[in-house]
Amino acid sequence: MNNNIIEQIKDRLDIVEFIRQYVPSLKRAGKTYKACCPFHQEKTPSFTCSSEKGLFYCFGCQAGGDIFEFLMRIENIPFNEAAEKLAQLAGVEYKPKRDTFSAEEQRRASAHKVLDFAKTFYHKNLLAANGAYARAYVKERNLTKETCVKFELGLAFQDNTQLARAAQKAGYSAADLKEAGLCMQTDYGLRDYFRNRLMFPIINHRGDTVGFGGRILGEGEPKYLNSPETILFTKSHVLYGLNFAGPAIRQAGRAVLLEGYMDVIGTHQAGVNYTVAPLGTSLTEEHARLLKRYTENVILLFDPDAAGIKAALRGSLVLISRGLFVKIATLPDGLDPDEYIAANGKEAFEQILDKAEDVIAFYTRELMKKCAMPLSAQDKTHLVTELAEVITQQPDAIVRREWAKYVAEHIGVDENLVLARLQRPGALKTRQVGTPVVSPVSATNSAEEELLSWLLRAPEQIELCAELTADDFSTPGSFHLFQAVRKAAQTGANEKELVEQVKAEVPSLAQEIIKLAMLQIPPDFQPQRDIKTCVARVKQNGVQKRLKEVQQKMKSLGAGNVPPELIQEYMSLQTKLKK
Ligand code: GTP
Ligand code: MN
Repeated sequence: MNNNIIEQIKDRLDIVEFIRQYVPSLKRAGKTYKACCPFHQEKTPSFTCSSEKGLFYCFGCQAGGDIFEFLMRIENIPFNEAAEKLAQLAGVEYKPKRDTFSAEEQRRASAHKVLDFAKTFYHKNLLAANGAYARAYVKERNLTKETCVKFELGLAFQDNTQLARAAQKAGYSAADLKEAGLCMQTDYGLRDYFRNRLMFPIINHRGDTVGFGGRILGEGEPKYLNSPETILFTKSHVLYGLNFAGPAIRQAGRAVLLEGYMDVIGTHQAGVNYTVAPLGTSLTEEHARLLKRYTENVILLFDPDAAGIKAALRGSLVLISRGLFVKIATLPDGLDPDEYIAANGKEAFEQILDKAEDVIAFYTRELMKKCAMPLSAQDKTHLVTELAEVITQQPDAIVRREWAKYVAEHIGVDENLVLARLQRPGALKTRQVGTPVVSPVSATNSAEEELLSWLLRAPEQIELCAELTADDFSTPGSFHLFQAVRKAAQTGANEKELVEQVKAEVPSLAQEIIKLAMLQIPPDFQPQRDIKTCVARVKQNGVQKRLKEVQQKMKSLGAGNVPPELIQEYMSLQTKLKK
């Protein structure tokens, strides 16, 4: 992709609006926008982006870049794929060259193809004459034909060579089929992974088929079988139904988490189309991260039995710690959501959702159920300890405070005692979520950072830096960066071009440059005055650094052995420092 097209795409797309799709909580803060970072866990927003600059940067985890880098990172896709998507969004012509695909991209592409083949194949089976027994089952489960078509439901027959044969006839290799998790090699030859099952294609939020879930038709174990994990499929990273629910979740302002495939399909069919389900696993941080791209509000609807409640509580902790607001709803009668909505309709179902209880209220009530009234002192201390664990997961200080108040009122203890529990070392153990963020050692100190940052805004003042030399900078990296900024400034580039040029000049410090470009300028910024002050500070720091070196040297030589030049330098540095 040439630079021209890249620039064209960047010009046409507003990075803030684009990022907002993934980070709905983005709020204006002066000229830039701020939110909690989608790339690491944090309690106060340090993620910023700016339309003007076309950049994003997180001051917490140092993730930063342009719209391409954002998409690559958040979707975890290679440049080509991101470019293709953005080009399409921007309405810019872009055809990636075949030979630019890496070996891994090729493996993924063939896995996609064979999965699509299998999806169509199974779907045809369900519609075929000899698929009648499966269609009868689907009907018994209240699903309409349109629903089967929409969710591309399928049928794997009892014959466990059927897919293998058909796919090989269509040109797919045994290796392709195995890699996609559709077949396995046995002593008798290649065998289909799924047999005698109603097939649910698992489609990720990007619309790609990544695997299948299969429900046994009739009796048999296991009831549900998922594709094995493959190059495309990580079970705990997918939410079933999100490909359809995504836009609906944004519109409804909430997402509902259900337990199973059937529940999702049943609710969508009845018109509640903002429901999704994990694939039989407990909720993970990745699920939370996915949901957060669409909304901050999640309702968990789980079985009201003991196991269901336990799962809901465990799941809610993961979601809370990722900054989601969680409510919990339960259905009466011990019915599954698909059964309930089929029997009672959309309105009744949505009423249950509207009555969902804030997670802390739900927790408090559930725990108090086990205690005799009035609460004994011992009960109170146990309750506060358990609830403090929940409150501690809440990253928002305001909500944390409200929750402590709620718990204190309902249990009948002083609020300060609840707050004190939060500070106990035991209770403060926050979960380590996501990949730990290693903050790279900054190449610049604060005076240098400001100087470079101001220069990016006011490159015409570069002459004020004429006297700065390598000795004035704290690290070679820092000086290198300064040189790159100076070089770009002398070309008369504007701010946006400047950042690009500096990035191209020192690609290893790209994150550093983006950070500099995103640093807030003081409201009363006066380029000449402020840059002059910065230059002076950088020089002073340089003098201090050199002074320390000289002192070290004098000390190591020992009194009486210090050459006169060194003493002279020491004295002249001292006078410079006093200036
Ligand atoms: P139906 O009996 O078809 O209504 O199933 P359900 O949707 O009520 O499922 P259930 O509550 O039994 O399980 C909920 C979810 O857990 C399912 O959608 C599956 O994702 C998963 N699950 C259920 N049983 C199994 C199993 O035997 N093995 C695996 N791996 N997952 C299962
Ligand atoms: Mn069910």
